[in-house]
Amino acid sequence: MSRERNIKSTKKSEKIESDHDDYTSAQKEKDVSVSKPSGVQTFAKIYYVLMPVLVVIIAGLLTFAVTRQETATIVKGTTKETGTGKGGKAKETPKKEVLLTAEELAKHDGSDPNIPVYLAILGRIYDVDKGRRHYEVGSGYNVFAGRDSTPSFVTGKFAREDATDDVKGLSPEDMMGVKGWLDFYRKDYTYVGKLIGRYYDSEGKPTEALQEAKALIKEGQRLQKLQDAENKRFPGCNSRWSKDEGSLVWCSENSAGINRDWVGVPRRMFKPGKKDPKCVCVKATGPSSDTGEGNEGDLNNPNMKLYPGCGKYDVSCKL
Ligand code: HEM
Repeated sequence: MSRERNIKSTKKSEKIESDHDDYTSAQKEKDVSVSKPSGVQTFAKIYYVLMPVLVVIIAGLLTFAVTRQETATIVKGTTKETGTGKGGKAKETPKKEVLLTAEELAKHDGSDPNIPVYLAILGRIYDVDKGRRHYEVGSGYNVFAGRDSTPSFVTGKFAREDATDDVKGLSPEDMMGVKGWLDFYRKDYTYVGKLIGRYYDSEGKPTEALQEAKALIKEGQRLQKLQDAENKRFPGCNSRWSKDEGSLVWCSENSAGINRDWVGVPRRMFKPGKKDPKCVCVKATGPSSDTGEGNEGDLNNPNMKLYPGCGKYDVSCKL
C-alpha cells in the first residue's frame, strides 16, 4: 500500500512535473517570441531583404555575360590575317573565317554612324572605321566604302556608279599599285574577312579571278625587279632648266638617287615601245654590261644616242 501510494504519488508528481515542463516551455516560447525573433522569422527577414539584392546581382551578372559574349563574337571576326608572314612565320590565325556577301558588306558603307566602315580590296575586307572621315558618305574616298572597288585605287575613278571590282584590263604595273594599297590596309587597318564574290567563293576559297590577279602582281614584281636592275645600270640624269641657261643635263655619283662609284656620261636612251627617249648616265669605261668585254663601258649600247652638240665624254650637256 505504502509502495502503491508511493508509486501513485510519484506518477502524480511526474505529471505535475510534466505539466510544469509544458507550462515552462510554452512560457519560454512566449517569452522568446516577445524578446527575440524565431529562426523562421529571422530567415524570413533575411529572405525578404536579401532576395531583391540577389536578384539584382544575378541580373547584372547575366547582362554582363551576354554582352561579353556578343563582343567576343564581333572580335572573332576582326582578328589578324591568316597565312604565313615573311620568313614562313605564322601570323595570328582567326578561329573562324568571316565571309560576307556584297549585301552584308554594303551595310558598312559609312552611311550609318553606328556601323563601322569596311572596304574590300581584291576581295579582302578591312575595317577602316578609324579612318572613317576619308570614307564616309560625302568624303573623297567614299567610292571604296562598303564594297570592293579595287581598280579605283589605280585608275582614280572615284564615282561610285562607275566603280567595279573587276581588275581586267589593268597592267602588271597597275596591279603593283593595287598590291601597294593592299599592303597599306594590311599594315594600317584590321582585317575582317573575305567578300564572297569575284575573288572568293562561298566557302572562302580563292577564285580563278584572284589567281589571275595574283599572277599579274607577280608579273609586275618581275618587271619591277628588271626595272630596278636597269635603273642601277643606267641611272637617270640630273636636270635643270632656267630661262637664261635653258636645259642642262648632267651625271653625278648619286643622280636619280642611285649611289655608285662611277659618274657616267649623259645619253638619250631609246627603248622599244617607248615614244620618248629618257636621259640616262652611261658608264664610259670598263667592260660592257651586256658582253662583259671592251673598255668603253656601255657607250656602244645600240639604245644609246649622244645629245646633239655634246662631246662623247662630256659629263654635262646643254640642250
Ligand atoms: C589614284 C589616286 C588616289 C587614290 C586611290 C587615293 C586614295 C587615298 C585613300 C584611300 C586615302 C585614305 C587613306 C587612309 O585610310 O588613311 C587617301 C588619303 C589622302 N589622300 Fe589620296 N588618293 C589618291 C590621290 C591623291 C592625290 C593626287 C592627292 C593630293 C593631291 C591625295 C591626297 C591625300 C591626302 C592628303 C590624304 C590624307 C587625308 C587626311 O589625312 O585627312 N590623294 N588617299
